[in-house]
Amino acid sequence: MTGSMPPPLLLLLLWTLTALWTLSEAMSPQWTQPRMKKLHVIPAGNTVKFRCQASGNPTPTMKWFKNGKEFKMDQRMGGFKVREHMWTILMEYVVPSDKGNYTCVVENQYGSINHTYQLDVIPRCPHRPILQAGLPANRTAVVGSDVKFVCKVFSNPQPHIQWLKHIEINGSHYGPDGLPYVRVLKTVYVNTTDKEMEVLLIKKVTFEDAGKYTCLAGNSFGISYHSAWLTVYKDPKPNTSCFPSSMPKLPADRTVVVGSDVEFVCKVFSNPQPHIQWLKHIENHGSRFGCDGLPFVRVLKSTGPNTTDKEMEVLQIKNVTLEDAGQYSCMDSIKTWI
Ligand SMILES: *[C@@H]1O[C@H](CO)[C@@H](O)[C@H](O)[C@H]1NC(C)=O
Ligand SMILES: *[C@@H]1O[C@H](CO)[C@@H](O)[C@H](O)[C@H]1NC(C)=O
Ligand SMILES: *[C@@H]1O[C@H](CO)[C@@H](O)[C@H](O)[C@H]1NC(C)=O
Ligand SMILES: *[C@@H]1O[C@H](CO)[C@@H](O)[C@H](O)[C@H]1NC(C)=O
Ligand SMILES: *[C@@H]1O[C@H](CO)[C@@H](O)[C@H](O)[C@H]1NC(C)=O
Ligand SMILES: *[C@@H]1O[C@H](CO)[C@@H](O)[C@H](O)[C@H]1NC(C)=O
Ligand SMILES: *[C@@H]1O[C@H](CO)[C@@H](O)[C@H](O)[C@H]1NC(C)=O
Ligand SMILES: *[C@@H]1O[C@H](CO)[C@@H](O)[C@H](O)[C@H]1NC(C)=O
Repeated sequence: MTGSMPPPLLLLLLWTLTALWTLSEAMSPQWTQPRMKKLHVIPAGNTVKFRCQASGNPTPTMKWFKNGKEFKMDQRMGGFKVREHMWTILMEYVVPSDKGNYTCVVENQYGSINHTYQLDVIPRCPHRPILQAGLPANRTAVVGSDVKFVCKVFSNPQPHIQWLKHIEINGSHYGPDGLPYVRVLKTVYVNTTDKEMEVLLIKKVTFEDAGKYTCLAGNSFGISYHSAWLTVYKDPKPNTSCFPSSMPKLPADRTVVVGSDVEFVCKVFSNPQPHIQWLKHIENHGSRFGCDGLPFVRVLKSTGPNTTDKEMEVLQIKNVTLEDAGQYSCMDSIKTWI
C-alpha cells in the first residue's frame, strides 16, 4: 500500500486535471463540414439525410426543428432517425408533406450554431421541369466584362434547356400570335442526376446584349421558364466639368480682394458615386511640379464614397487671404484660379 495515493485523492486529482483541461480547451461549436448546401430538391420516395457535423468542447448537442418548431417523431409517418455520432437526421421515403425548413441547432455552454436545410419534395408522378425560384437573377455588367446567368432545373425525365434572348422585330417585342420574339442562344440536354445547374455565359458584353433572357426547360410533360434582365453600363469614368460659380471681381492690377468669400463648384456626373477631392496647388522649393511631373498639391476637402445624389460639390473659402491665392483643382481638371 505504500507509495500509492488513496483512491479518493487520486480521483479528485484526475477530476481536477480533467476540469482544468476542459476549461483550457473550452470551445464553442464550430462546423466541421466544408459545405452545407441549403436547398434540397428530392423526388418523392427517396431517403433524405441532413448532416450538421460540428466540433466543440464539451461535445455539443444537436437538436432538430422543422419550420421553427421542435421536430417530433409523431410529426411524420415512419418518423425519422437521428444519428448523433454521425450528426445526421434521416428521413426515409419522403412525401410532399415533408417539404419545409429543417434546422439543426448545435450547442454547448459556450455557444450555439444552427443551419437550415430547405427540403422540397417533387412529385414522383411525371411532371414538367421545376425551376429554382429566383434563378436566373437580374444581372448588371460593365461593357466588356463577362456575365453569367444561372438556371437550376429539376426534372425527371431528363429535360432539355434553352437559353433565349428576347428581341425586337419591326419595333415590337411580340409577334402577331402574341408570343415574344426570341433568339435561341444555347440548347442543352442535361443529365439531372449529375448536373442540376445550367449556366449561360456571355463574354465581353456590349450594349446590344442588354435585355431580357429566358431559361426554358422542357420535358415530355411540359415546359417551365424563368426570365431575368441584363443591364449594361459604361465603364464608370467620372465625367467632370469644373468651373467657378462666383468669382471675386479681380481688379486689373491683380490685387486680391482680401476678406471676401469665394466659392467653387465642381460638377461631376458619374455612376457609381465618384470620389471628389479639392486640391490646392502649392509650391515646394520654388517648384510647382515634382520630378515625376505631377503638381504639388494639398488636399483641402475630400468627399466620401457616400455622398449620394449630390452631383455638386462646393469648395468655400471664407475671408480670402493672400495665402489663398493660387490654383485650385477639382479632381484632375485644372481650370480655376484666383
Ligand atoms: C423556408 O424558408 C424559406 C426561405 O428561408 C421561406 O421562403 C419559406 O417560406 C420557408 N418555408 C416554411 C414552410 O417555413
Ligand atoms: C440561428 O442562428 C441565428 C444567428 O446566428 C440566430 O439569430 C437564431 O436565433 C438561431 N436559431 C435558432 C433556432 O437557434
Ligand atoms: C428584374 O428586372 C426587371 C426589369 O428591370 C424588374 O421588373 C424585376 O422586378 C427585377 N427582378 C428582381 C428580382 O429584381
Ligand atoms: C418587318 O417589316 C418589313 C417591312 O414592313 C416586312 O417586310 C417584314 O416581313 C417584317 N418582319 C416581320 C418579322 O414581321
Ligand atoms: C446520366 O449520366 C450517366 C453517366 O454520365 C449515364 O450513365 C446515365 O444514363 C445518364 N442518365 C440519364 C437519365 O441520361
Ligand atoms: C458629361 O455629362 C454632361 C451632362 O450629362 C454631358 O452633356 C456631356 O456630354 C458628358 N461628357 C462626356 C465626355 O461624356
Ligand atoms: C454612409 O451613409 C450611411 C447611411 O446614410 C451611414 O450610416 C454611413 O455611416 C455612411 N458612411 C460614411 C463612410 O459616411
Ligand atoms: C479675416 O481675416 C483677417 C486676418 O486674418 C481677420 O483680422 C478678420 O477678423 C477676418 N474676418 C472675418 C470676418 O473672419
